[in-house]
Amino acid sequence: MLTHEETAELTGLLDESPRREEAAAEALRIVQRRRGWISDEALHDVAGFIGVAEASLEAVATFYNRLYRKPVGRHVIFLCDSVSCWIMGFGQVRERLLAKLGLASMPGTTADNMFTLLPATCLGACDRAPVMMVDDELYVDLTPEKVEEIVEKIRMKDESSY
Ligand code: FES
Repeated sequence: MLTHEETAELTGLLDESPRREEAAAEALRIVQRRRGWISDEALHDVAGFIGVAEASLEAVATFYNRLYRKPVGRHVIFLCDSVSCWIMGFGQVRERLLAKLGLASMPGTTADNMFTLLPATCLGACDRAPVMMVDDELYVDLTPEKVEEIVEKIRMKDESSY
């Protein structure tokens, strides 16, 4: 069931975007911002509220790789595995990230639920490969050492904010 806050935000969105299909991705983002991911139930409720077929909304959720249909950690790391990044050291960076996060493989979420590591197609910074994105921030020219530092910094920042 959608919360009062969610329905209020969705109503505002529909007022601004009369074409339901155009509002679909943003409607899912509204729910994801509040819940962290989009469950089957949430997708069903949003589809009903904005008046689009559930299958269409599912297609939208599948198309955008930053709409999560499974639970993710507090921070989501997208590691680019496209060709330039592959050539420039993706393998070593991935291995170090997996070790640092205590994961056996990618995709995966850390035991403390702080990080989810996901593969991504080209993040648009091929000339600075290898590249990853953590939440909304892009990190370029990665090395195994650099990714360890990035993860460490985020952990420390999170811990100090509690
Ligand atoms: S191939 Fe990795 S950013 Fe383009």
